[in-house]
This record gives sequence, C-alpha cells and structure tokens, in this order.
Amino acid sequence: MKSMNLALGLLASVALPSVALATDLEVTHWWTSGGEAAAVAELATAFDATGNKWVDGAIAGSGDTARPIMISRITGGDPMGATQFNHGRQAQELVEAGLFRDLTDVATRENWAALVNPPTLLENCTLDGKIYCVPVNIHSWQWLWLSNGAFEKAGVAVPANWNEFVAAAPALEAAGITPLAMGKQPWQQAGAFNVLMVGVGGSDLFLKVYKDKDAAFAAGPEVAAVFKAADDARKMAAKSNVQNWNEATSMVINATAGGQIMGDWAQGEFQVAGQTAGKEYTCLPGLGLNEVISTGGDAFYFPKLDDPEKSAAQDVLASVMMAPATQVAFNLKKGSLPVRGDVDLSTANDCMQKGLKILAEGHVIQSSDELMDPDSITQINDLFATFFSDMSMTPEDAQKQFAALVGSAQ
Ligand code: GAL
Repeated sequence: MKSMNLALGLLASVALPSVALATDLEVTHWWTSGGEAAAVAELATAFDATGNKWVDGAIAGSGDTARPIMISRITGGDPMGATQFNHGRQAQELVEAGLFRDLTDVATRENWAALVNPPTLLENCTLDGKIYCVPVNIHSWQWLWLSNGAFEKAGVAVPANWNEFVAAAPALEAAGITPLAMGKQPWQQAGAFNVLMVGVGGSDLFLKVYKDKDAAFAAGPEVAAVFKAADDARKMAAKSNVQNWNEATSMVINATAGGQIMGDWAQGEFQVAGQTAGKEYTCLPGLGLNEVISTGGDAFYFPKLDDPEKSAAQDVLASVMMAPATQVAFNLKKGSLPVRGDVDLSTANDCMQKGLKILAEGHVIQSSDELMDPDSITQINDLFATFFSDMSMTPEDAQKQFAALVGSAQ
C-alpha cells in the first residue's frame, strides 16, 4: 500500500505540460436577424479557433431592448464575458465607474492606434488614456435601399435620389406597393429622420444640431425643410405595419415596398436572401443627395471578472476581433466596413464598395450616438416615434419639441 501512495505522490509532483484551458466566454449582443446571425458566427468561429469557447448570449429585439439588460447585469454583479454597445457614449458611465477591463496592453501590443480608421472609433473607447473597448465595424445609417422589382411593377424608373423616390410614391401606391418600409420602433423612426437631415439638409446642418446642439438653429428654417421631408416620409410609410427593422427590409426584398431608409446592416439581409446589389436592389448612399457615411457601428466591452483564465480569454477575444482575417470575414457578412484600412475587401459587393470609396475620400461624419448623450438620444427617438405614428402632430409642433431637446442635450 505504501508503494502505491509513493507512486501517486511522485505522479502528482510531476509538472504536467501546461495545456491552455479552453475558457468559456459569454458574449451578449442584439444581432438576431439572418444577416446578423451569419456575421456573429464568424466572430464565434474565430474565437473558438483559439481553443476557447464563444458562448452566445444573443438578446432578441433591438439595441434599445438589449442595452438595459446588459447594463443591469454588469451593475448587478452578473457580468458577461463581453458585450456589444454602439460606438460612442452608451457605455460611458460604466467605463467611468471602472467596470470594464482595461485593454490598453492588447491595443498597444497590436498598435491599434495606427490601424483603426477613423481614429474617432478608438477615441470613443478611450478614457484617461486607457482603452476600454474594441471597435469591430463601421455601420453607416446613411443609405436608401430600393427594390428594383417594385418600381418595375409600378412602371417607373428606379429613383436616383430621395426627391425622385418621393415623386414615385403615387405610382407605387397605385400598384399596391407601400412606398417606404419602416419598423414601428423609435430608433428606426429617429434614425430615418437623421438620415433625411444629412441627405436633405447636409452634413453641416446635422453637425450644428447633434454636435453643437444649437437649439436656435434646430428651430430654424433649414431644419424646417427636413421636417417637411420627414412629413413626406411618414405618409409614405403609413401602411408599413411591421416592428423589427429586418421585417421592413424583407418588404423591400419581396418588392412589397419600394424602399427603406436603414443602416447598411440591411446588406446582410439582402445577402441571406441571395439578392445582388444592382440586380434585385439598388443602394443610394446619402439618399443620392449627399454621399457621406456616418461612423455608427459596434464595439465590444469586457466587464471585469474575478477569474484570471476568463480575463486572459477576454484579451484573446479582443485581439481576435481586431485581427485582419476576422475583420474581413465578419464585415463581409455584416454589411459593415472594417475598422482597419489594411485588409482586402475586394470581394465586397457594389454597395460596400461605394461605402469604402466614400470612407477613403473622407466624406465621413460622426453618428448621433457619438455626439449626443444617450438620454437625449432616447428622448429624441421617442419624439419621432410619436411624429411618425400620430399624424395629428404637425411638423411645426414636432420641430419645436425637437429644438428644446437639442438645447437640453449634453
Ligand atoms: C445597430 C448596430 C448594428 C445593427 C443594428 C440593428 O445599433 O450597430 O450592428 O445590427 O443595430 O440591429
């Protein structure tokens, strides 16, 4: 018996080669549409290839649904391994409270500061010189998606810009086609208004409102012209009885709607539906009026965990998300642009190529999420939910309330 104990003692004392443990990380996000799920799979595959394990924490619904759940888990002592927020100020208070892992070592080692373009994406992640998130894409809201089939059925040419789209609305309606598809959620209605602001009013007008928060300007005649365009839009979308953004995109895919103002995450839905840009659908950046892209999109934050293995896996995941191969595989499926300029996206479709060209030319504006505090964004979103659903609210009434919210924003 003694010899057995001795043998076991010896065995236990032998240092086994250190095998990296496969660490599970729960990753929360709101990417549940067909295109979004295809893109998430690329992130998961890349992380799993490191020997760790992506535990998917998809939260159904929009970002407006998911973010409060994410925030309450982080502040309530039930943190996930990593979580999505949009570029900008949504996680600002959590960063300031010291609840996220400092990624500066990874970012410095991999020289993110030299790679990430535009630099504002990394600045959004930075507090007191330390980096607390990894930007993973650039999503621009500034797009109009048109169903070529719908306009063919209506007997009119596919519009080259917003104004031609508005003029084609009666022909679409006569053909039994909803001119504008739009989900009945505040972020979608406000998002569409902001795209009209950039397209119809111009980039400077958008920045005077969201960056300068100039209430007097927001109440003025230039912005009144945007509210007139929004009045056209809400009439064109009156029969769009869907909730989720991708249901509205499906109306364009199925030619039951003429078009949709939506961010370029809609690309993923056209791809999953097997449709080709320029063939079944047409994309107009900046509504065909002001070809810019806005730097919306997504970054991942890593709550501090009291677990060295998980903390090490968080650094691995951050590095994987920034890696060239992941940036290509993920963004091609997501319909977004990569955050680094040194990757080959030659296989991207025509619409993404248009976006890449606009980015390369520097026609870029920051998103409202990057420029204005989240609470004010929410209040403005709610105002446009009312404006787009309650036709008794006049453009003049809406503009008065909008200007007041702009004036009180941070
Ligand atoms: C945005 C996000 C995109 C997209 C969209 C719809 O906030 O940046 O990645 O998925 O929501 O879910």
